[in-house]
Amino acid sequence: MAEEPRAFVCGHPINHSKSPAIHNFWLNKYGLSGSYESIDVTPQKLGDFLEGLKLAGFVGGNATIPHKEAVFSHAWRKDEAAEAIGAANTLWFEDDKLIAGNTDAYGFAANLDDQIPKWRNAERAMIFGAGGASRAIIYALLDAGIKQIDLVNRTLERAENLARIFGHRINAMNWETAAAAIQKADLCINSTSLGMEGQPDFPPILDQARPDALAADIVYIPSETPFLKLAKQQELVTSDGLGMLLHQAVPGFEKWFGVKPEVDSGLRQHILAEINKTDAT
Ligand code: ATR
Repeated sequence: MAEEPRAFVCGHPINHSKSPAIHNFWLNKYGLSGSYESIDVTPQKLGDFLEGLKLAGFVGGNATIPHKEAVFSHAWRKDEAAEAIGAANTLWFEDDKLIAGNTDAYGFAANLDDQIPKWRNAERAMIFGAGGASRAIIYALLDAGIKQIDLVNRTLERAENLARIFGHRINAMNWETAAAAIQKADLCINSTSLGMEGQPDFPPILDQARPDALAADIVYIPSETPFLKLAKQQELVTSDGLGMLLHQAVPGFEKWFGVKPEVDSGLRQHILAEINKTDAT
């Protein structure tokens, strides 16, 4: 008899990961045999852990902070998104070889398709933040055919570096320049940690946004971030960050367990309850 497929999420620390709750919800919903577990792996042990995956019966898994770049380097092959983003979050085997993919850009786009489908008509976007998460968003927007991205960052060199990597459609700028340029944006996206618990609030730059602009945050704790609050005050149509987390899990689940799972309100409620539980402890 074939063994039940085992999948994992590895990170350090790992206890905050919502991936087990997402994948176990789907395993139950579709009545599939298999398991998904969270494993704390230190950076020093990551190489051995990845080498031992096959022997331990794993069919693949996810990598989260701080392993997204290291698993990328370790893999035998990377998918196109991982190559462009320079980091991977999803692992699987092909012909016994470890493949690394990045599903964050897919998750970002699929969530906008769900929540604000008009985003596909946007010609010009403004992204706040030039960290790791910003790379996946840039890749998703370029892939969707966006004409120009104004990339706003406190540390200008980081935005300029991404503009060098992703090409001439990216325009790096600081927050002062952004205040004047935001009137041209069809789509405004927050990828900074501003507004997360313990971080400063998002500045009131959305006051200057066009009334028909769309606004998306990728931060999902709190579910209504200061960025989204500001956007709603301006009566902009918005998309919250939780959907990206849910959608990025779809391709991995399908690869490991053979069913393409649905992101629906049942999953959303389940994960929101998990988040509130963690927040309360
Ligand atoms: P991630 O991988 O989630 O994108 P990151 O690489 O730490 O995380 O990036 C965090 C982003 O939030 C960066 O764009 C950061 O700006 P800097 O590159 O200038 O650090 C931005 N950020 C964090 N705190 C900020 C603050 N107080 N003001 C403005 N930007 C901030």
